[in-house]
Amino acid sequence: MSGRTVVVVGAVNVDLVVAAPRLPGPGETVVGGGVSRHAGGKGANAAVAAARAGADVRLVGAVGADEHGRTSLAELVADGVDPRHVAVLDDVPTGVALIVVDAAGENQIAVGAGANAAVSAAHVRAALDDALPAAGCVLVSTEITPAAVAAAVERAAAAKVPCVLNPAPVIDVVGELLRYGPILTPNASECAHLARLVGARSPAQGPVPAGARALVEHTGAPVIVTLGGDGAVVLGPDGAAEPVPPSPATVRDTTGAGDTFNGVLAARLADGDQMAVAVRLASVAAALSVGRVGARAGMPTAEQIAEAAGG
Ligand code: RIB
Repeated sequence: MSGRTVVVVGAVNVDLVVAAPRLPGPGETVVGGGVSRHAGGKGANAAVAAARAGADVRLVGAVGADEHGRTSLAELVADGVDPRHVAVLDDVPTGVALIVVDAAGENQIAVGAGANAAVSAAHVRAALDDALPAAGCVLVSTEITPAAVAAAVERAAAAKVPCVLNPAPVIDVVGELLRYGPILTPNASECAHLARLVGARSPAQGPVPAGARALVEHTGAPVIVTLGGDGAVVLGPDGAAEPVPPSPATVRDTTGAGDTFNGVLAARLADGDQMAVAVRLASVAAALSVGRVGARAGMPTAEQIAEAAGG
């Protein structure tokens, strides 16, 4: 891929994964099988997905000055991600996610934010001032501080670089950032939640999930609603809805599927693809990613994406 750089702003975690027959309910203990350690964090995962898809990628975030942090940086470098803007912070641990994956590949995640909660707006601004001149797309996710998320979206808008904002999880500041016109990539429940947050509602209509039309009216940009095993829907600023069919998938672990989608979407947009093409390839990549346990284990290369997409 010869496109411009993808700049990802988001979290870096270490994932501790327990495979269990089913997810525990509140207050319940479920005894599972093996425990495994995987590289994680929505930002770092998306950065790796974009790099495997062929993009030059810089990640902006933070880890602690600990063993988890050192391993996380080494894994990013091994996947071709440039970590020069990942701060190594004293006195805070690297983020950790505790994940249970059930027999159907569904998951439950609790995150100890650690260094991700110390990513400052000043750090993001300085990193983006350095990285944006070469950037074709900025991808932001919301597991870091609201101030850092806001700084990333504002800086991308000021530089007129397309910005994909993955509101996972939905945090209040996202509502204030819609005026900068980010390309939103919520799932269906995040879409409805975000629309409610800004006091705008639009009912589900045909393939268009509840809230999506209201969000397009706020951003003036495409909203891409991911639907898991049902594919995705792209709603354009002109109101046209384009369903993207699901790709066949062998589901072992859905952790990181959304990150794969976002990373590949950003990579393809940075390379100049039309939105519909980029979303289709991102959807194919996400389907491939769920075939192995661990957020990044199943993330495909550009060649694997092209082959699965039929060319
Ligand atoms: O999206 C999956 C990711 O969410 C995991 O890797 C975990 O670290 C949490 O951040």
